Amino acid sequence: MKNVVLIGFMGTGKTSSGRMLAQKLGCAFIDLDQKIEKDQGCSIPKIFATQGEAAFRALEHQAVLEVAGRRNAVISTGGGTVKDPANMEALRASGVIVCLRADVDAILERTQTRGDRPVLDGADAGDRRAAIEQLLAERASLYAEADCVVDTSTLSPLQVVEKILRYLRSRGVIHA
Ligand code: S3P
Repeated sequence: MKNVVLIGFMGTGKTSSGRMLAQKLGCAFIDLDQKIEKDQGCSIPKIFATQGEAAFRALEHQAVLEVAGRRNAVISTGGGTVKDPANMEALRASGVIVCLRADVDAILERTQTRGDRPVLDGADAGDRRAAIEQLLAERASLYAEADCVVDTSTLSPLQVVEKILRYLRSRGVIHA
């Protein structure tokens, strides 16, 4: 099987849906952020704080190249993985790209915990919505490069997975 690559903004459900999708497909699940944390022995917020975003993006690119060399995996990316065209090129060559999207209210609610999302944590409470809206606008054209988009705003991870499975069957990526 080609890889199934989940892209999309923070809080759209890439990790929870990706894990469940891999279970249903009986294949490996790779979460890019978790891989980076494991390889570095350090959390993403700590990498941002001590080494800066550029260093994180370099580690992210290295991780993309590694996982894109595999097959038979569901790969959940980070929200900003799409920013590097070389990442998208490698991921696209390795499989099908599915984008998860959600409306701003859902994203705001799902990314409430402070300290987990360094690209949002710079904004104080009132500015968080504006920060999300701005990043979404900046990245909209990058997320739109996906083969398929699933809006997760009102869906459970299981419902998201069912939609992705339907799409994969329609494309002949899976047959069951
Ligand atoms: C980021 C999203 C995060 C993580 C890092 C940067 C971004 O991943 O890669 O904090 O730039 O949108 P999630 O989308 O899994 O939260």
